[in-house]
Amino acid sequence: MSPLQPVATDPTAQAPTLSLLASWIVVLSLLLGWLAVARPAPLAAQPTGVSWAWSGAITEGSAVVVARLARGVSEARLVIAPDGTDAEVDALTVPARGYASPDAHGLVRFEATRLSPATRYRYRVETREGQHLEGRLRTWAAGPFSFRIAFASCATTGSNHRVFDAIRALTPDLFVHMGDFHYLNIGRNDAEAFRRGYDRVLDSSRQSALYRAVPIAYMYDDHDFGPNNSDGTSASRPAATAVYRDHVPHYPLQAGADTIQQAFDIGRARIIVTDTRSSREPVDAPRPRTMLGEAQRRWLEDELTRAKDAALVIWVNTVPWITKGNESTHEGWAPYAEERERLATLIDTLGLTRRLVMLSGDGHMAALDDGTNSAYMAGRGPDSRGFVVIHGAPLDRWPRTKGGPYSHGVSRRDHQFGLLDVADTGTALEVTASARDAYGQLVPGLELRLRCDQTGCATR
Ligand SMILES: [Fe+2]
Repeated sequence: MSPLQPVATDPTAQAPTLSLLASWIVVLSLLLGWLAVARPAPLAAQPTGVSWAWSGAITEGSAVVVARLARGVSEARLVIAPDGTDAEVDALTVPARGYASPDAHGLVRFEATRLSPATRYRYRVETREGQHLEGRLRTWAAGPFSFRIAFASCATTGSNHRVFDAIRALTPDLFVHMGDFHYLNIGRNDAEAFRRGYDRVLDSSRQSALYRAVPIAYMYDDHDFGPNNSDGTSASRPAATAVYRDHVPHYPLQAGADTIQQAFDIGRARIIVTDTRSSREPVDAPRPRTMLGEAQRRWLEDELTRAKDAALVIWVNTVPWITKGNESTHEGWAPYAEERERLATLIDTLGLTRRLVMLSGDGHMAALDDGTNSAYMAGRGPDSRGFVVIHGAPLDRWPRTKGGPYSHGVSRRDHQFGLLDVADTGTALEVTASARDAYGQLVPGLELRLRCDQTGCATR
């Protein structure tokens, strides 16, 4: 028989085949439909010329943008314009307006210092060939200024979970990443391994989109500094610190210091970010031990003293402060109790206990304490009150509780973060601290509303 000749078929015999085919089509359509619902619309593909870009070190008049160019791209420039306009501003001071060549690792770093306060900007890192990546930022203002901070820690290396979209959707002015940016646990002095870590995280489309939409303040914790529970003796320390300095848009670091702590103002709030890994003594070192190292502790004491008139102090301390459930634990500040008491005593002496909010990560949980359990000053009694402590984690990592107890409880779930809203009325700061889920929704019970003036913060 010729292959082109129609084949006589028995229609009754073909019916079951057709119905089976139809069933498969229905199943396939349902599956495709489910996939379309379960997977959000893809983000715009990234051009190949600029691998990633992020901003930070925001002040009322300046910003830093760091980008990585693809191999073979010889130059790029930063174009910056007030959001909603094409009016490019001449803000760049480093390098001077024009194109910059990347370093040996493809990095370009731009500093804009002639920005206007409280202004939203759109920026574009653009290669000479016209390939570009866009980002956004808002400058702060000196004096009364309302702002929103999102904060979190702990995401499996290169996570592309939708929680990053949820954070972006809330349009914070700053994202404070409190460590475990990746879980590579690099235990050797290997700068290239740390560079790969940044690439793996920043190549994630959802994380990249968040970091381009929201300026960052990033402090590493153990897994992105060295191995689990790493301290200042980790062989990885020089590489972790050096690669951080190059890759992260950060506030000025202390000259000559081997720690990366930072402090800055947003409106009338003072933000202090401490480095709890680089100079940490091992938990089995003789007591009293230091978590911060002598030099950083002196720096912190100076910073707190200088901040004593701030309307609000936000201390980003990556690891659990409260360990009253078990003071013999190796978790958080428990093994460094003497240093904790010394700092708590200074904070109290300065009158800051009622004007300080601590943001923390490390524990894979969200938790909130209104001061009931956080008092560690010398001479404290059972009724002594400390400052507010809020944990916002984990971004994408299995849940685990650390420290505590916490007055408002613990949410031991995955895909969480924290949100701090500060509305400055000119006479007072209305502060709302809350924990959020993977959809940006409030985690029930984990919210605290404060009103802060020069006499301190009180719940409202
Ligand atoms: Fe973690």
